[in-house]
Amino acid sequence: GVPGWTVETDVVVIGSGIAGLVAAIRASGHGRVLLVTKALLDAGSTRWAQGGIAAALAPDDSPADHLADTLTAGVGLCDEEAVRILVTEGPDAVRRLIDTGAHFDLASDGSVSLTREGGHHRRRIAHAGGDATGAEISRALLAALKQTDGVEVIEHALVLDLLTAGGRAAGVTLHVMGEGSRDGVGAVRARAVVLATGGLGQVFAATTNPEVSTGDGVALALRAGAEVADLEFVQFHPTVMWLGPDAEGQQPLISEAVRGEGAHLVDASGERFMTGRHELAELAPRDVVAKGIMNRMRETGEPCMWLDGRHLGAAFWESRFPNILASCRRHGVDPVTDPIPVVPAAHYASGGVMTDLYGRTSIPGLYACGEVACTGVHGANRLASNSLLEGLVFAERIGEAVKDDLARQVVAAEPSGGTAGLLDPTVRAEVQRVMSAYCGVLRSADGLAEAERALARLAGLTSAQPCVEAWEATNLHQVATAVVAAAARRTETRGSHWREDFPDRDDAAWRGRLVGRAGRAPG
Ligand code: SIN
Repeated sequence: GVPGWTVETDVVVIGSGIAGLVAAIRASGHGRVLLVTKALLDAGSTRWAQGGIAAALAPDDSPADHLADTLTAGVGLCDEEAVRILVTEGPDAVRRLIDTGAHFDLASDGSVSLTREGGHHRRRIAHAGGDATGAEISRALLAALKQTDGVEVIEHALVLDLLTAGGRAAGVTLHVMGEGSRDGVGAVRARAVVLATGGLGQVFAATTNPEVSTGDGVALALRAGAEVADLEFVQFHPTVMWLGPDAEGQQPLISEAVRGEGAHLVDASGERFMTGRHELAELAPRDVVAKGIMNRMRETGEPCMWLDGRHLGAAFWESRFPNILASCRRHGVDPVTDPIPVVPAAHYASGGVMTDLYGRTSIPGLYACGEVACTGVHGANRLASNSLLEGLVFAERIGEAVKDDLARQVVAAEPSGGTAGLLDPTVRAEVQRVMSAYCGVLRSADGLAEAERALARLAGLTSAQPCVEAWEATNLHQVATAVVAAAARRTETRGSHWREDFPDRDDAAWRGRLVGRAGRAPG
């Protein structure tokens, strides 16, 4: 719709997870900041993060070791320079987070307690509240935001489209729910726009992501013509509690840290099937474990596998994983006495809006940070607990980089791109079913072609009502279409992209990234 109101600021940050909060706090040192978020400030993925944040903090660890593990997990597609920044700046960034007020769990000698997760050869994962790391980081950053001058917040504000002027980002349009004079569709004019909108897990029927993770940032970037990359690499978390064959929406995550502390994956007969499949067994990189589980399910005909942590004992479960324990018990499984039924579910977009080492996208003045971004640190498969770290490290860099934009005039801006038409809210559930059926852990040319046909049919279901649900359905459809196109294009198996019809990695043809823009095939 036509904007009913306009506000002006220097930097508009969209999203309030670790990336958005850190970028906003940092950028406030250089100019006025407006932070907008789709629901409440703490509703995004950050507060759901369980396992922790990875950084080479231990005396026997080093950024070089963290780099090596990250590159191995990314199966040849990481941008090594971006990874080097991540692992080198990571330890100090985590220390600054601690100075900001985040309370991490401590070992008996007072140092930060570190655990292991898949793909890590060292104890490297800092955690808080046992298994509530993201909630603690979110709490600490929101408290810091309150103490920060020069950041205004608008909640319940869905971002619609980018505004541009002379090829530069010049603001965004928003749909705000119930903010008095700023109700309905409005425009924010700004010198820099930071996308920190999080992930796109809601494209799938079963995901660890909250309801709000509808790929809004990638959809906006596609409509604006920004470059996106690596969209085929959707990571499936190996151990999500199995709630039955028809489970939909956000599913209960069982952190990799449970395996890091010694729990085993077993089949119905109690056999540990990951030993012998990889030197790290249950702590192999995430894609390897997800495939191991899927293969064992096929071999045995079972609908799930089991995570056996009974030997950890009641006291350990209660102190180390209080929230996971409570969540399992709420769902009728007691991990102290029973193995937990688990399956893989959609978890993380390793790709996204392509950026350089300062979060700059292909559109000047537009930045992307956190899960929405593709900085190149994850390659074909993100290493466990590198996501909070990426949000933190690159948000700090963006908070400094926007300085360069602030000397520019705010100019009259036009919406860029825009949608042909909004889709009906019912399209959301249809997209999720199609994506889980044909573009999930296992993919093939036939299935992906079926997904393309189904998505093309859904494009005809337009909506007369420009409500948030219609925008989200439109964004999910747009992102799903781009993910399917990239998945169809990559005719090999690599990292979290598993093609049944091309079961091998093909370094000769495919040791490169799929970079695309809306309306063009990636490539
Ligand atoms: C987990 O706790 O297993 C999630 C860690 C991650 O996604 O990096």
